[in-house]
Amino acid sequence: MFVLNFFSATTWTLLALAFALLLLYGIWPHSIFKKLKIPGPRPLPFIGTLASFRKGLISFDRECQAKYGDVWGLFDARTPVLMVTDPEIIKTVMVKDCYSTFTNRRLIDSLKDKSHSKQEQYPQFVAPYSLDVVTSASFSVESNAINDPDDPINTHIKKILNFSLWPFFLLMVFPFCGRLFELLRIELMPRLSLDYLYNIIKSFKDQHGPEESSRADFLQVMKQNEIPETDIKSEHDQPSKGLTEREILSQALIFIFGGYETTSTTLTYILYNLATNPDALQTLHEEIDAKLPRDAPLRYEDVVGLEYLDQVLSESQRLIPTAPRLERACKKTVQVHGLTIPEGTLVTIPVHLMHKDPRFWSSPELFRPERFSKDGGEEVNPYAYMPFGLGPRNCVGMRYAVLTMKTVLARLLQNYTVETCKDTVIPIEFNWILQPKTPIKLKFVPRQ
Ligand code: HEM
Repeated sequence: MFVLNFFSATTWTLLALAFALLLLYGIWPHSIFKKLKIPGPRPLPFIGTLASFRKGLISFDRECQAKYGDVWGLFDARTPVLMVTDPEIIKTVMVKDCYSTFTNRRLIDSLKDKSHSKQEQYPQFVAPYSLDVVTSASFSVESNAINDPDDPINTHIKKILNFSLWPFFLLMVFPFCGRLFELLRIELMPRLSLDYLYNIIKSFKDQHGPEESSRADFLQVMKQNEIPETDIKSEHDQPSKGLTEREILSQALIFIFGGYETTSTTLTYILYNLATNPDALQTLHEEIDAKLPRDAPLRYEDVVGLEYLDQVLSESQRLIPTAPRLERACKKTVQVHGLTIPEGTLVTIPVHLMHKDPRFWSSPELFRPERFSKDGGEEVNPYAYMPFGLGPRNCVGMRYAVLTMKTVLARLLQNYTVETCKDTVIPIEFNWILQPKTPIKLKFVPRQ
């Protein structure tokens, strides 16, 4: 009674109305899949089915597929997410209708000197190594992250990648919070680090000399196609060719981020799979010893010719895909194989499920590189295997990443063998966003 007297009847009515409206806002989009008779777990107001991630992405997706089949609906807060494991629907979304309907993803406004003797290591060198490679190949800048743990580029990238998830979560539930974040000066990513990287890439670009004397790296190619910012009249009236300075710098940043963690994480999983599968490692050592000259520089043709290494890469990426899910935003309501996909839905492919689905793979849980052999391997369904994505929006860095990984593995395995040690967690335990709960620890032993 005391509480009721706190406000007038009118105020209570307004409060109840506001609460009802807020609740309605929180549940409004959640009926969409029910109307379309698409099954799925029951969403909660505001957060949708996000709470189910507590179980971990792998087991949650697996549980849903077992319960609902090849198509089910989830809600990332208020955004409808259509999960699909049917290869025909995947083909239409990722390839056939990519340009017309499913164009974009979600938008939110030295090895030798390091181990002389038998010792335990985490494959920690792989992230700085991939950074050094990307800055050298893309910008002709020789960074030294592999030998210098305090290398500023490396430090700033790590700060950016370790961003907190909660502002993103808040934006999913309340998209209009973007303006509030601006007013409160809440940054989604550390502004200082982003500014540092943006400015340093600008200085790389400014240092690139005249065309004829420069290496034709990624930055040079973009610089040759630079147009003034004033050529952009509006967002919808864009010149058909050319990039402004801002676009060049943003693309360069995307290149660094696209390749940094992905390449190093994938390399780490490959080393882990080799350490836990000594037979495959033995076969790979034999191929490397037979095909590569020992004390000569590696040539492109030598690396490309390492076929078993290719199979190891493919199989490792099948067993532990670095990107566990792919997504495309549906920009207009369409019918795909009898299924209505409403505008605004995120079509999502649980890659990790496709890669282990017994309908497409024999003994999917086993690490068997030979299944990717050109003669005598398994027939791979292209819509059930997608470590670098699928269709026109797949990974632009794929060939480059494969070459980088093959080069580092070939050189490393010429000189070392990789083994598990007492601290290796087998199998790897993943957290809810499919990252290893603890760093992967392996032992590198110099070869005789
Ligand atoms: C093993 C290493 C890598 C893996 C596993 C990987 C994986 C992926 C995946 C799964 C996608 C999404 C594709 C899709 O949605 O269909 C992607 C996109 C992308 N990747 Fe990679 N990537 C790797 C290395 C790289 C490297 C080295 C670069 C750049 C030098 C790069 C640049 C990009 C870019 C720019 C995109 C966006 C493409 C677009 O939106 O059109 N990636 N990558």
